[in-house]
Amino acid sequence: MWLLGIDVGTGGTRAVIVDENGIVVAAASCEHAPFRSPEPGWAEQDPDDWWRATQKAILGAVAAARHASGNPGQQIDAIGLTGQMHGAVMLDRDGKVLRPALIWCDQRTDDQCNWLHEELGREHLIELTCNPALPNFTLTKLLWVKDNEPEIFASIHHILCPKDYVRYRLTGRFAMDVHEASGTLLLDVTNRQWSSTVARVAGIPEAWLPQLFESSEVCAHVSPAAASALGLVEGTPVVAGAGDQGAGAVGMGILKPGSVSATIGTSGVVFAATDSPVRDPRGRLHTFCHAVPGRWHVMGVTQSAGLSLRWFRDTFAAGSTYDELTTLAAKVPPGSDGLLWAPYLLGERTPHLDSQATAAFVGITAGHSLAHFARAVLEGVAYSLRDTFTLFAELDIPVKGVRLGGGGARGPLWRRIQASVYNHPSEVLIAEEGGAFGAALLAGVGVGGWPTADAACASTLHVAQRVEPDTDAVKAYDAGYKVYQRLYPALRSLRD
Ligand code: XUL
Repeated sequence: MWLLGIDVGTGGTRAVIVDENGIVVAAASCEHAPFRSPEPGWAEQDPDDWWRATQKAILGAVAAARHASGNPGQQIDAIGLTGQMHGAVMLDRDGKVLRPALIWCDQRTDDQCNWLHEELGREHLIELTCNPALPNFTLTKLLWVKDNEPEIFASIHHILCPKDYVRYRLTGRFAMDVHEASGTLLLDVTNRQWSSTVARVAGIPEAWLPQLFESSEVCAHVSPAAASALGLVEGTPVVAGAGDQGAGAVGMGILKPGSVSATIGTSGVVFAATDSPVRDPRGRLHTFCHAVPGRWHVMGVTQSAGLSLRWFRDTFAAGSTYDELTTLAAKVPPGSDGLLWAPYLLGERTPHLDSQATAAFVGITAGHSLAHFARAVLEGVAYSLRDTFTLFAELDIPVKGVRLGGGGARGPLWRRIQASVYNHPSEVLIAEEGGAFGAALLAGVGVGGWPTADAACASTLHVAQRVEPDTDAVKAYDAGYKVYQRLYPALRSLRD
């Protein structure tokens, strides 16, 4: 069995071909044009650029699989899609893109969030969708277009998220999975169906919303045009897939209560599987349908996780590699001799829900060097993810072990820092392919290769390394975290 997983990320699209043992047969990526920011806090991308990158990535992965097959494209049994969540793709009656998509990190919709909370009541909205209105969520982006570009809003016939637009180009079908739909703020997450109440109050005709599926259901087939352009077989089944966090959790085996992942990509996410829709009454965690039928998950999001390190390097250590910076950082003791980083470069989601929050280094002395600053960035991001563990404890969400993923799991120092800041033994898996790998597993479940996602994970995932918390570092980080928790209120008070 060969499965093709496609991850339409923010920076680029990745295509991965996986076999029935979870071995990555071939993979290829293609970068996107960087997102445009016509005004501070705005973030837009062209959906057709995702389709361009997807085609290149698929062609690249198929070409790279020639070592294993004479005709790799013909050997793919099923396709799974995943990608950056929440982006608002608006199409006209002919399926043409009406304007660039407002993507997940676009922060322009505070007014629309306030309006939704006033119209529906914040608590009522949380009852209906399990989540409050946040600028990241798709509905608020649609409302911004309604308020500011009414002529475009009037031409909308279809609404999709980024990977669902790629599916439309690949198959001609409009479809969305319940995991992705949870991040639109238009889903009744408890009942896994569109919320007629929210759609009505927001003025979104339900006819615009795509048909919903569970993540491993086959919802479409590769079209004749896409098959001939990409060398695939016409009619190859395509499963609904999931947003990057849901598919990534499948790829890391985070499926049952107690299993938790901490993933550091551009953003950082702490994700726990649950067997009912556990809600934070204050809306600080996201509660979404999981990519597995009958399960849900909660997650907390740090907006600038990997982004903090990239920004730090590009701004203060241009020309250095991440390895050089972390080698320097490893020379400084845990706690960075009192230097702290509050990572709010793009505002913050969990736990502060404040799109206007700003970042800061705090506690600088003449004794601090570049190495201290680099280490403080790694530690500050981990403290920020620890805020989600703190909420899990408050809401009695069990944590039996943590799996680390994303770029933050690749270097040994950031792994050690995370294990000690969270104070949980942490595992790293062998195939660390993130969402694309999980999407491929969902595709395999969809065509009967495995009976369930749990079975798929059991036969394909293997632990590469276990990192234990270090007792001295845990002490230093417990003390550091107490001070860290006081940074946001202090920074917030400067804006009053
Ligand atoms: C999840 C989220 C990010 C994006 C981009 O809520 O906003 O994970 O999906 O990766």
